[in-house]
Amino acid sequence: MSFREEYDGARALIEEALKKEFALPGLEEAMSYSLLAGGKRVRPVLTVKFCEAAGGRAEEAMSLGCALEMLHTYSLIHDDLPAMDNDDLRRGKPTNHKVFGECTAILAGDALQSAAFRTASEAGLKFSRPEAGLEAVRYFAEAAGERGMCLGQYGDTTIPESERTAETLLRINDLKTGALLRAACVLGVLAAMGNRDVCPDCVSAAEEYALNLGRAFQIKDDMLDAMSTDSELGKPVGSDLANGKATYMSLLGAEKCADLVREYTERAKAALRKASWAGDTSFLLELADELEKRSS
Ligand code: IPE
Ligand code: IPE
Ligand code: MG
Ligand code: MG
Ligand code: MG
Repeated sequence: MSFREEYDGARALIEEALKKEFALPGLEEAMSYSLLAGGKRVRPVLTVKFCEAAGGRAEEAMSLGCALEMLHTYSLIHDDLPAMDNDDLRRGKPTNHKVFGECTAILAGDALQSAAFRTASEAGLKFSRPEAGLEAVRYFAEAAGERGMCLGQYGDTTIPESERTAETLLRINDLKTGALLRAACVLGVLAAMGNRDVCPDCVSAAEEYALNLGRAFQIKDDMLDAMSTDSELGKPVGSDLANGKATYMSLLGAEKCADLVREYTERAKAALRKASWAGDTSFLLELADELEKRSS
């Protein structure tokens, strides 16, 4: 199977699982509008593939992966609000608040966050070793909140331009984007641990892979914001510039950014090789390269 076929296969299973959620009119309609609008589904794909690399089965990680995607979608709905990035287009469609109004968009995001933790807890309860499920929920909460994504978004929206050095941006990016990617990878390993022994080195290798993948991922996101088109990206290009937001792109320029993305991608791949995996890691190695080359 080619990399693309494997990615699309995992993604199709994730889409199928997500479609079963939130079918009611009203608040659930606003939740599913953004959740089912497309998106690369990188986080659940990582969860499923890390579970398999650690010797588990895809089904064991599917609900945790869906929980990650729900939480990620909430972060996007709130990120697009007028009080944050004030964007009108997301995943090729008008943003949640443009369609449902700000009040419902805030609530849809809040409810997706709660649903993410309900889904993750239900998944953990099904493990034969539920302590791995409990650790997954704890790790997820740490990655999402005041020690992770929310803290990163806080830094991104409050740190003044004059203090946005490359070092500060690295800290912001590790939190706003890196934290959830780390959770996606580690939760995959924990899903495998829920039903069998897994070499403990796999957790630290997954964390190091994700840290570097997250760095590459956000720098590439900043490059696309400056160099892509709305239709290719499915979100408005030039958003960072319009918000007067210094990023790696405005600080270092495209060439240096491309070098950094390459460097972090190589570091991510090297990190994977530090553990002994029961399953195959070739997909995860190729995924890092594919994300470097992505156009959206
Ligand atoms: C966008 O994430 C927000 C960032 C963390 C840069 P993605 O690029 O994964 O967005 P989707 O899920 O594919 O829409
Ligand atoms: C936000 O980063 C990351 C989140 C936590 C949502 P960006 O603001 O650059 O993400 P995009 O470009 O709007 O997807
Ligand atoms: Mg933002
Ligand atoms: Mg944004
Ligand atoms: Mg961006």
